[in-house]
Order: sequence, then C-alpha cells, then structure tokens
Amino acid sequence: MAKRKAMIAGNWKMHTTVVDGCQLAVDVAKFCTGFEDREVLIAPPFTILSEVSHVVKETEILIGSQNVCWEEKGAFTGEISPAMVKDAGGTVAIVGHSERRQIFAESDDLVNRRLKGGLASGLLMIFCIGETLKERDDGRAFAVLADQLRKGLHGISPKSMEKVVVAYEPVWAIGTGKTATKEQAQETHAFIRGFLEEIYEKNVAEQTRILYGGSVKPDNVDALMSQADIDGALVGGAALDAESFGRIINFTL
Ligand code: 13P
Repeated sequence: MAKRKAMIAGNWKMHTTVVDGCQLAVDVAKFCTGFEDREVLIAPPFTILSEVSHVVKETEILIGSQNVCWEEKGAFTGEISPAMVKDAGGTVAIVGHSERRQIFAESDDLVNRRLKGGLASGLLMIFCIGETLKERDDGRAFAVLADQLRKGLHGISPKSMEKVVVAYEPVWAIGTGKTATKEQAQETHAFIRGFLEEIYEKNVAEQTRILYGGSVKPDNVDALMSQADIDGALVGGAALDAESFGRIINFTL
C-alpha cells in the first residue's frame, strides 16, 4: 500500500480579519519548507478566503473553506457554493464540523448533501465526525461514529472516496484542552478504518486519510502522529498562532 500523505489542517473558525489573517498566513508559510510527506491546509473564514489564497499562492499551502453548499448558485442565503470556493482560490472544503452539527443543527443528511456537492465540483472534502462526552461515557461512541459515517457517506462511490478525508473530532476534546490520549485516538481511528472497509473495501479503507482533531498542540502532536491510523490533524486554537501551528506542521515521528 502506498503510504498515506499526512495532512495538517488549520481551521481558523470565526477568527481573523483581512489584515491579521493575511499576516498569519505569511507567518505560517515560513514554517512550510518543501514537504514531500505532508500537506498543509488553512481554512480561513469565507470573508478572507480570497485574500489569504492570494498570500499563499506561491507556497505549498492549500486553502479550504469551513463549509460548502451543494448547489452552485441560487437562493441560499448565508451559504457559499463550491464554485465560489474555487473562485476564491480554495481547493478543499470542511463539512460536518461538530459546531455546525450542534450549534446550527446540521443533520447527517445535510452534511451528506454538502459532501456530495463539493465532490461533484472536484473539491477535496474533509468530512468531520465525532461523539459527545455523554455518548462516550455511555459506551456509544463507536455506534455514533458508525451512524455518522454511514449516513454522511451515503451514495458516495468508492472512486469518490479518493477525494474524501475523514476527520475524527471528539466533541469533548474541542477547545477544551482535553485531548484524547494517543491510545484512545488510535483505537477510534482503527475503528473508523475498519468501518470504511465494511462499507467500502479494503483499498478504500487503506487509502483514506483520517485526521484527528481536538486540542492538538505542539506538545501532543508527535505522539498522536506516531499512531498507525492517525494521518494528520485538524487544528483549531493552536492554528491561530503561527509558532504553534508551525511546530505542529513540523511534527516528528
Ligand atoms: P481545537 O484545536 O481548538 O480544540 O479545535 C479543534 C477543531 O474543532 C478543529 O476543527
């Protein structure tokens, strides 16, 4: 099996204006030094996608949006289409983030439509899943993840899976400073990969990158990345500080 390329993605969430976002991108780019074994992505807010893409144009940094609609245009107030993401210089979109699911009540079905829409337009899609603390404490984490995977990936062909990256973000670890231990994360990633094998086939399961997200920091990234089924990180808070994100990008095994 060809080795899966690592991906370190920074989700800037609802942070940064034009000036500080562009500066952050310039500073992050200094830490990207011609990697062959990893990709670096930043997902700024919609309002500065275009400016930040421009800033990183000559670098290896990929640009992604934090969400995307399934339609190319039309009466969808508050949404952004795959064509708009591409027009702004983006090649990637995140869907199904737990903040979208929990705060904005996005259902599995909606996430599935977003995922299909982005894929149809050729975007690389980061599909997020994750259980709450209560679900984990009740012993239902794997059942919840299986359900999110089954519904979110409904109707997506094995071929299209080449353009899907799964991000496992336990809700209880997001922004809390509480990371899953490397063993907990590895166990869950292995479960996700096994489930992909069940609903697709071994090849798909082995080629699909699975990122971990939830309080990834400079001091825990190496341990997480050394796990067999952890192929990258989706970083929130620490992605807003160039030094921290730079260290995370430069994880060592
Ligand atoms: P934190 O790294 O701030 O926990 O956020 C994780 C996240 O939600 C990335 O999408």
